[in-house]
Amino acid sequence: MKYFIGNWKMFGIPKSINILKRINTFCSKDKNRNKYKAIVTPPYTLLETYSNYFKTKHLTIGSQNCYQKDKFSSNTAAVSPYMLKSVGVKYTLIGHSDNRSEGDTDDILKEKVKLALKNNLKVVFCIGENKTQKKNKTTFNILKRQLTKVLEKKLNKNNIIVAYEPIWSIGSGKIPSSDDLEKTIIHIKNSLKKIFRKKSPAVLYGGSVDGNNVKIFKKITQIDGFLIGGASKSSKKFIDIIKNYYR
Ligand code: PGA
Repeated sequence: MKYFIGNWKMFGIPKSINILKRINTFCSKDKNRNKYKAIVTPPYTLLETYSNYFKTKHLTIGSQNCYQKDKFSSNTAAVSPYMLKSVGVKYTLIGHSDNRSEGDTDDILKEKVKLALKNNLKVVFCIGENKTQKKNKTTFNILKRQLTKVLEKKLNKNNIIVAYEPIWSIGSGKIPSSDDLEKTIIHIKNSLKKIFRKKSPAVLYGGSVDGNNVKIFKKITQIDGFLIGGASKSSKKFIDIIKNYYR
């Protein structure tokens, strides 16, 4: 199974649902539809309406984040995995570099992953090195540490997906070389096999993915799908990525 996950970030109002309706119409008729899952993560304000609308449809709705406490708490503006589940959300991103840079430490992320899984959400756990770490050639160590600090054997790996997003690539139009990317994905899968003592969860690539460069990425067979930011705000661009992947 491949994954095409759109991350809307701070984008979208109620009528933006039309973008997702067009994506859903494409996916539900696509001859390759059984080979992949299309998921989009709109902001919190839209989760309930969108989840209800797409409940019985092909497209799946996820959240961009969740809070590290269960059920209800006195944390202003926080939304728990329990609350997400209650409005029909199926997936949540955890550890996006935007949130890491705003203070999400490994310990916080560990708690988020644990609580999201406990509430039957599927977790898309994001990891990635920054520009300096890449320059200093510490990428492999950084990624391994990000994984081992948060994921552990006792977690249900069937409900975990890992998204590799080099921070320097997000929103920049820059992408890793195919050789680097292939080696990195293999390194991530090997690290995950050590943690879970078996098969690795799916590993996605994210960072400036578009309808053109997906033709390069699809040659790297170890990549199980994509986390798509900018291009997910346009139905045409998102659909082009899926189309060109299977072309
Ligand atoms: P981008 O964002 O596709 O716009 O680079 C990816 C992400 O941040 O998830």
